[in-house]
Amino acid sequence: MKMVRVGLIGSGFMGRSHTFAFNTASSVFELPATPVLELLADVDDDTAAAAAKALGFSRSTGDWRALIDDPAVDLVDITAPNVLHKPIALAAIAAGKPVYCEKPLAANAAEAKEMADAADAAGVITAVGFNYLKNPMVTLAREIVASGEIGEVVSFRGIHAEDYMADPQSPYTWRMDPEGGHGVVADLGSHIISIARYVVGPIASVVGQIATVTTERPVAPGASETRRVEVDDQARALVRFEGGATGSIEASWIATGRKMTLAFDITGTKGTIAVDHERMNELQIYTTGQPAGREGFKTILAGPDHDSYAAFCPAPGHQLGFNDIKAIEVKALMTALAGGAPFRPDFREAWEIQRVVDAVVASARAERWVNIAET
Ligand SMILES: NC(=O)c1ccc[n+]([C@@H]2O[C@H](COP(=O)([O-])OP(=O)(O)OC[C@H]3O[C@@H](n4cnc5c(N)ncnc54)[C@H](O)[C@@H]3O)[C@@H](O)[C@H]2O)c1
Repeated sequence: MKMVRVGLIGSGFMGRSHTFAFNTASSVFELPATPVLELLADVDDDTAAAAAKALGFSRSTGDWRALIDDPAVDLVDITAPNVLHKPIALAAIAAGKPVYCEKPLAANAAEAKEMADAADAAGVITAVGFNYLKNPMVTLAREIVASGEIGEVVSFRGIHAEDYMADPQSPYTWRMDPEGGHGVVADLGSHIISIARYVVGPIASVVGQIATVTTERPVAPGASETRRVEVDDQARALVRFEGGATGSIEASWIATGRKMTLAFDITGTKGTIAVDHERMNELQIYTTGQPAGREGFKTILAGPDHDSYAAFCPAPGHQLGFNDIKAIEVKALMTALAGGAPFRPDFREAWEIQRVVDAVVASARAERWVNIAET
């Protein structure tokens, strides 16, 4: 059995989620390679040591460069703020190590391309944490569309709305740092773009609108000193897919009351499917041809007949959670590292997603349609 010794950089929300996923994937799946919690890096030695102890890593360091150089690290896992993704990933690739990086891959499409090119040139396996693509209900949506069950896709309506920045007193964080890229269009918009591409296909062009609603935020919780916010709080775009369908995508981190509205409707000539991650174990499907007076959407509950679910639970309707789909992502990564099916999305696909993000912003600024090929 191959061992993959993990070097984790960052131990916040996603660092904990990845750790959970490494542990869970090892327990519930028969993995072709086993992740081992080897080394954890964070901002300084004390923070890293405390996190390593809490999360079960063998060793720690306050210097991510030391983690990359460490001969006992086989996989570099980046769960640090966006501005660090590029320098860490390029250093890992230069060291010939596979990289598992959180989304969005980079600050912009040019940087994402540089990272994808470097990985391809070095022949290094890469993986990007667009975990919702591993939700069995999103996989089912893709299978239904591909099977032709809802006919030819004519419309995609997608949104990722949450409210974690809705309070104007919520402090400035790294998510607002323009050095790390755009605002919510990159933070949440990249997720719904990844789903649109995965289920419907490549996007050809967009016309976007972005808005910064809260232009000053406290520098820390409760602080009277404020810092100017330059990135978007809300973003919308009309989209045209290469396959001919049209649609819309939306992202907001100020959508008061919305906690996890990562939702989409896909309408075809013979039906519609709908998924909303506030109820992430359900897929709604409507097909034409139902008897008059009995027409309506059917709700399919996730169960062991769907991708990866049975490994967690033999009974349908018992529900997977956010961290479980991260474990499915880890299964796919371990499979790729053991020489099995390639991991998707890799850096190349994440660059394609980033191009759409950049196109929305470029279009909003120029007030015109932008072809993705222009980015
Ligand atoms: N896939 C998803 O569903 C999802 C969800 C949330 C966040 N993310 C992504 O994950 C990444 C991290 O987000 P988060 O919410 O976990 O952030 P966070 O602020 O909770 O954690 C970031 C961690 O990185 C550490 N860090 C900062 N600078 C560092 C440095 N120089 N060296 C080492 N460690 C450093 C911080 O101390 C902290 O432990 C981001 O890219 C974000 O977009 C993805």
